[in-house]
Amino acid sequence: FAQLNVLAKLAGKQYFGSAVDNPALSDVPYRRQLSNWLDFGQITASNTLKWETVEAQRGVFNFTGGDEILALAKRNKQLVRGHTCVWHSQLAPWVEAGNFSAKELTKIIEDHCGTIVRHYRGDICKQQVHWDVVNEAFEDDGTFRQTVFYKTLGKQYFETALRVARKADPKTKLYLNDYNVEGLNAKSDAYYNLIKELKAKKVPIDGFGVQGHLILGRVPTTIKENFQRFADLGVDIAITELDIRMELPVTPEKLEQQKKDYETVIAACKAVKRCIGVTIWDYTDKYSWVPSWFEGEGAALPWDEDLKKKPAYYGIAKAW
Ligand code: XIL
Repeated sequence: FAQLNVLAKLAGKQYFGSAVDNPALSDVPYRRQLSNWLDFGQITASNTLKWETVEAQRGVFNFTGGDEILALAKRNKQLVRGHTCVWHSQLAPWVEAGNFSAKELTKIIEDHCGTIVRHYRGDICKQQVHWDVVNEAFEDDGTFRQTVFYKTLGKQYFETALRVARKADPKTKLYLNDYNVEGLNAKSDAYYNLIKELKAKKVPIDGFGVQGHLILGRVPTTIKENFQRFADLGVDIAITELDIRMELPVTPEKLEQQKKDYETVIAACKAVKRCIGVTIWDYTDKYSWVPSWFEGEGAALPWDEDLKKKPAYYGIAKAW
């Protein structure tokens, strides 16, 4: 019986991976399992590369948390996804408070993205790094989210961020990333059109990151078709933050449904050649973000709070 990263690679994918938040690294059994390459060939820092942490003060960069995760990944021979350059949430307050002009905000994006992408440049650490260059830029109805970036710069900010990231590290893969874009809908249409436009303008864009924060029994039925249309546009697809939450308490029936739901998602990725990898948003319910963000919900991950494998684990294995 093989393990999740091994099975993903046998299916032709680059990795199966997990997110991790730095404080959990002091939990030794947790860290040991995270470091097991057979299950995880990739890791993502779930908080410490966000703007509020990396550049809390203008021009003062703090890579302590990110470097800790990069070092761990390097020891474990794991790939890394960088999360994230430009995002309205967990943004350093000074970016909004400054009421910057278009010119100045452009410079701020260039300095921020350029510095962090350069810091983790692939030929320095010899690890392939992906970057979520822009995160959560659209509303569910497909309109642009009215962030400080959009309000000040219009859609020009995508181009600014992508170009500076490419320059900072020509080898890293550049992604746009969002939730509720797993299946065909207005929001994934908006990304489809934006990526098409960026490609036509020769703006560097390598991939579409589909977060995959899903709800038990409600996995979209059009994931494969959606992924395929992005592949046909000429970008990779990565599932970047997969978890499938349920209303608590947990029952054996819900765990069986969760197993099926994970199987459905993994099978869709497997079926589309350019779906290159899957990351779960942490691997154990012990450290999932779900209970603190969605009232009454939880148990979203393939390992339970005692780091024991749940049926979902075997669903993922089966689908690969
Ligand atoms: C979440 C983290 O997991 C939490 O610890 C934090 O409090 C809030 O953010 N979409 C994203 C991720 O792109 O960065 C979010 O991560 C989950 C939703």
